[in-house]
Amino acid sequence: MAIQSTITLNNGTVIPQVGLGVFQTPDGDVTVNAVRTALEAGYRHIDTAMIYRNEASVGEGVRRSGVPREDIFVTTKLWNDDIRAHRAKDAFQESLDRLGMDYVDLYLIHWPADGWQQAWDDMQEIYASGRAKAIGVSNFHEHHLDELLRNSDVTPAADQVESSPQFPNQPLIDTLHAKGIAAEAWSPLGGTGGSLLAAPALAEIGARYDKSPAQVVIRWHIQRGVVVLPKSTHAERIRQNLDVFDFTLSAADMAAVDALATGKRNGSDPDDFSF
Ligand SMILES: NC(=O)c1ccc[n+]([C@@H]2O[C@H](COP(=O)([O-])OP(=O)(O)OC[C@H]3O[C@@H](n4cnc5c(N)ncnc54)[C@H](OP(=O)(O)O)[C@@H]3O)[C@@H](O)[C@H]2O)c1
Repeated sequence: MAIQSTITLNNGTVIPQVGLGVFQTPDGDVTVNAVRTALEAGYRHIDTAMIYRNEASVGEGVRRSGVPREDIFVTTKLWNDDIRAHRAKDAFQESLDRLGMDYVDLYLIHWPADGWQQAWDDMQEIYASGRAKAIGVSNFHEHHLDELLRNSDVTPAADQVESSPQFPNQPLIDTLHAKGIAAEAWSPLGGTGGSLLAAPALAEIGARYDKSPAQVVIRWHIQRGVVVLPKSTHAERIRQNLDVFDFTLSAADMAAVDALATGKRNGSDPDDFSF
C-alpha cells in the first residue's frame, strides 16, 4: 500500500500530493519537531514561506530527520514586501540561507502584490540558475494568470490557492488544470480556528471508513487531484493526516463533502488584500 501519491508538474518535477503546512507553526522546537515527525511518518513535502518566519527551523527539522535532502520537496514563498520592493533575487537567497539549503523544489510568488510581474521575470532567472527546481504562484486568480501568460513563455508549475469543502474554489481549480498548472490547496481543513471539522457529515462519513473528519477532508482533496497541505503541530494529527491512502471515498460521499460549500472564503480575496 502506497503511503504517498505524487503529481508531476509541467516541467517534469514530481511533487508529493500531501505536504506538511507550517503557517502559524512557531519557530524553534515546535517547527523542528513538526517537520521531523512528518518526515519520520513518511511525508516528503514541507510548505513554508518567508513570512511564516520559521524557515530556519524547517531546515533544522529536515537535517535532524536524517532523510536525505534530495528525497524531500521543499516549498517557500516570496513575500509581498519583497515583491513591492523588487527584491526577489535577494529575498530568495535570504530564504535559502535561513533554510540552510542550496536549492528549493518550488518557489512561489505568495500574493499578486504590486510588482509581481517583475518578480516573475526575476524568478525565471532563479529557475534558470537551478536553485529553484520549479517556480509558481499563489493566490493568483485567472485574470492574473492570463496577464502572466501573455507576457511570459514560462507557465507557472503551480498556483497555491484557498480550497476546502467550505470554499472549494472549483472553477479556478478547473482552470488551473486546463492550463497544466498544478493546484495546491491552502487551509485545506478550513484553517486554524475554523468550523469545518465539526461538521456532522464528516464524522458520519468518517465513521464508515474508520477515519477522522480531517482524514475524510484530506482524502476528498486527493481525489480531486489537488496538492493538499494540512498543518498541525500535534504528532498524532501529523501522522493521521498522511494515513489517507488505504480508503477511497465513494461518489456519494464525495458529493456529501461537496455539499458543505458555503461560498465564503476563510482568508482574503486575492483581488482585495491589505498586507
Ligand atoms: N499561500 C497562502 O497564501 C497560504 C495561506 C494559508 C495557508 N497556506 C499553507 O496551507 C497550510 C495549511 O493551511 P492552514 O494552516 O491555514 O490551515 P489547515 O491546515 O486548513 O488547518 C489547520 C488547523 O487544523 C488543525 N488540525 C490539523 N490536523 C487535524 C486533525 N487531524 N484533527 C483535528 N484538527 C486538525 C490544526 O490544529 P493543530 O495544529 O493544533 O493540530 C489547525 O488548527 C499552511 O500551513 C500553509 O503552509 C498558504
